[in-house]
Amino acid sequence: MQNNSIHGMWSSRLAFILAASGSAVGLGNIWRFPYLASDNGGGAFVLVYLGCILLVGLPIMAAEILMGRHGRMSPVNTLRKLTSEGGHSKGWVVIGWIGMAAAVLILSFYSVVGGWTLHYAWLYLQQLFGGAPITDPGATFGALLASPGTLVFWHSVFMLLTVGVVAMGVEKGLERAVKLLMPLLFLILLGLFAYGVSTGKVGQAFSFLFTPDFGKVDGNVLLAALGQAFFSLSLGMCGIMTYGAYLPRDISIPKVAGTVALMDTSVALLAGLAIFPVIFAFGLDPAGGGPGLIFTSLPLAFNDMPFGIPYALAFFVLLAVAAWTSSISLLEPPTAFIVEKGKVSRKGATLLAALGIWALGLVTALGFNVWSSVRVFDRDLQGAVEYIASDLMLPIGGLLIALFAAWVLRKEISQGELSDLGKTGFGLWKILCGIVAPGLVLVILYMKLFG
Ligand code: PHE
Repeated sequence: MQNNSIHGMWSSRLAFILAASGSAVGLGNIWRFPYLASDNGGGAFVLVYLGCILLVGLPIMAAEILMGRHGRMSPVNTLRKLTSEGGHSKGWVVIGWIGMAAAVLILSFYSVVGGWTLHYAWLYLQQLFGGAPITDPGATFGALLASPGTLVFWHSVFMLLTVGVVAMGVEKGLERAVKLLMPLLFLILLGLFAYGVSTGKVGQAFSFLFTPDFGKVDGNVLLAALGQAFFSLSLGMCGIMTYGAYLPRDISIPKVAGTVALMDTSVALLAGLAIFPVIFAFGLDPAGGGPGLIFTSLPLAFNDMPFGIPYALAFFVLLAVAAWTSSISLLEPPTAFIVEKGKVSRKGATLLAALGIWALGLVTALGFNVWSSVRVFDRDLQGAVEYIASDLMLPIGGLLIALFAAWVLRKEISQGELSDLGKTGFGLWKILCGIVAPGLVLVILYMKLFG
């Protein structure tokens, strides 16, 4: 059993919690969750989503952390180590490859959307100093998507910010960044929530999010909720496994996993309760807003509300910060993998990984304009990359992780890593991770693909 990772270690429990919540809390909570909830029937979606977090997300998060902490390497090499140590089939190493491929795909479109948030923050910063107001948000958003130059510019800036942190390493880069950025994120979010309360529409937002309409629950809602649970908790792509590799031995895995899942879920709900009141207060209809929801509906509200412009600036800075701390966890696994090859320094590895992902991001960026007629799986290119990575690869990766951790990995290892669960707690984890979570993932994937 190795005590340290060659890449560095988190200095404390708090550092890990901030880093893992930084990974979990992102565009998924503030951009994706609200539009998925409104496109999938509000409360019906939220309830299924919460169920997925508890029954699928939490046990798999524990599995990822424990595998990472035992392996202490990037996902592929952690899986190589775990399989060779235990004499298991090398086939399981595919978990690491799927995870890394998912991370690369997700970061490629994530960085483009992260770029949107920077673009909007910039627009509102200019407006604060007398720049032209956004009077027709649909047109502003449309113009952004239609401009390959602007999209690629902000995608590049966002990628550079991510590289800047990851290149500095675990302690001096990742840990320092999340210690600074996460408190900022919570502060802005609380401010926005307080504003939502002041609109008097929190009640309506609350009933929109929490009144379940079971008639609306179908295969699509189930898959969207499951995909979102994986996406939001950053599971199935071995990012949390990589962060687990840097976790000191004496820290309780169940406790940190529970804390991270709680933080992530609270932020998603809080974001919903900050955003929907504003949408309702201005008489807008959130349904069918799709990925453009917050970019096309909120700016209308920002124009009319008191302190709308500083509010808008805070909102888009919040989004950008949330996206930034997530994107570093997407760049870390491929970077660590390249470092382990032993040919380049960490800085070189970061640049190499980022360059490839940046180039792949052009597919997303150009898919909105030059290649806008291209349809894959009945979606535009961004939608297709997002669908393949988050709705298919994350659940499949998660399924394999769950099966491996519960049934293949030697019990001494899993039980040792989860020792503070006690015997009953460990038994419960094993049922959830080995039966319930894989069962649910399989049923939902089957319904989606063949149902
Ligand atoms: N969890 C992040 C979010 O909610 C997205 C993400 C997915 C980050 C997978 C890392 C890995 O925005």
